[in-house]
Amino acid sequence: SGEAISVTVEAGKAGPKIDRQIFGQFAEHLGTGIYGGVWVGPDSNIPNVRGIRSDVVAALKAIKVPNVRWPGGCFADEYHWRDGIGDPKKRRITVNSNWGGAIENNAFGTHEFFDFVEQIGSEAYVSINVGSGSYKEAADWVAYMTADTRNTAGQERAANGRKEPWKIKFLGIGNESWGCGGNMRPEYYADELKRYARFARNYNPAQQGDANPDRMLRVAVGPNDNDTTYTEGVMKAWKDRDWSWSIEGLSLHSYTVVKWPPAYDSVNFGEKEYAELTQATLRMDAQIKTHSAIMDKYDPEKKVPLIVDEWGVWLAKLPGTTEGFLQQQNTLRDGIIAALNFNIFARHADRVRGANIAQMVNVLQAMILTDGPKMVLTPTYYVHRMYLPFQDATFIPVRFDAGEYRVGDVVLPRIDAVAARGADGKLWLAAVNLDPNRAAPLRLEIPGVRVRSAAGEVLTAPKVNSLNSFDAPDSVAPRPIAGKAQGGGVTIELPAKSVTVLALES
Ligand code: AHR
Repeated sequence: SGEAISVTVEAGKAGPKIDRQIFGQFAEHLGTGIYGGVWVGPDSNIPNVRGIRSDVVAALKAIKVPNVRWPGGCFADEYHWRDGIGDPKKRRITVNSNWGGAIENNAFGTHEFFDFVEQIGSEAYVSINVGSGSYKEAADWVAYMTADTRNTAGQERAANGRKEPWKIKFLGIGNESWGCGGNMRPEYYADELKRYARFARNYNPAQQGDANPDRMLRVAVGPNDNDTTYTEGVMKAWKDRDWSWSIEGLSLHSYTVVKWPPAYDSVNFGEKEYAELTQATLRMDAQIKTHSAIMDKYDPEKKVPLIVDEWGVWLAKLPGTTEGFLQQQNTLRDGIIAALNFNIFARHADRVRGANIAQMVNVLQAMILTDGPKMVLTPTYYVHRMYLPFQDATFIPVRFDAGEYRVGDVVLPRIDAVAARGADGKLWLAAVNLDPNRAAPLRLEIPGVRVRSAAGEVLTAPKVNSLNSFDAPDSVAPRPIAGKAQGGGVTIELPAKSVTVLALES
């Protein structure tokens, strides 16, 4: 593995806060993401609280999910919220035309969603229907969720079992309006945005006031990958805003794919595919830079955060699974990819203040896979758990020579690292060794400080495509790791293909 790579943590310098909202999740009515994955119904033999499965709740609680984006995705622009309230037996039965034509019985609606969010101790990111709904339908829904019982909207909610208004942390105004959300030109969308942003009013008394840290943040549809037309269109509209409307977020959707439609297998892949996909994920950095530069032009004070509310690896569907259910396995490679994205978001913490991995359970790059009563935690789940100290931590610059890892014509950095001062006051380092063949010895130093210890957890496995199955659920799980103090610094060896999170003590 050669000479130690010097990693210098500039503990004396502090950057922006790494918003915990970058660790958000996305749960769409898609495949078994909700039905089966979260919702089993109160009569199920699978242990549940009011229909919401308890094993999934416990697992999600442990990773302190900051927000859950719901009900879609493309589904959101065809969702009519009234279908999902009231007596479950009388709810409308509809077709999920985006995702496999599945029958949607609307058993999981607004009340069930907020119950779920409360059970896992999270916050709500609700996407309203701009594509096939109306201003009134959206306004009525937000009123239903947030008005108190002096209003008919609040009274109706109370009659359905919830007296207290809910809080909405983020309100998504449409989804992919450049595509499945209605194929709108950016100028047309900007006009729609103004009206929805104006009329979808939040009435929750606890969320009033522009300076209220608890206020609802309205998120506009923004760019798709590298396409800057929506970034320009929406930010230009925002610059010319007046008292009547605003937004508090711009969405970016960027999936990790090498080819479209997604063709790479989630389990059977070689080193070349591993390297290509990892290279594809690192493009997130350039995309954020591109969109941030445009946002800076209209918003130099960085008032509008970029919210990467759909990201993750999109792979070929597992053989034998339903078309449109987007079911894929999750391997050590996906865990490494998750960590690389967190590092990118952290380095852009001044602009990226929210993100939602797609998706939470059983869909795309999932944290959790279920099959009937069985549940398994994926490598991506464990990376979320390992990065907990980075939630609301302060970014600390770190210097290192990333080196190179080459496979054929694909050249990648050998290592990646970010550091932060945790909300707990401790100094944390996250380091990724991308090279699946070589361990990476590091020498960690903090200028002017004697580092006494570096200890934490490492996630690695025999192969980049090692995974957790229902039969062998613990094949890829974090284990303890510690460095050796030596002459004021610490040396530590990052295993090949690994993610490590360490507390540095001086
Ligand atoms: O996450 C799956 C889909 O990907 C979402 O519904 C849509 O917004 C995106 O195209």
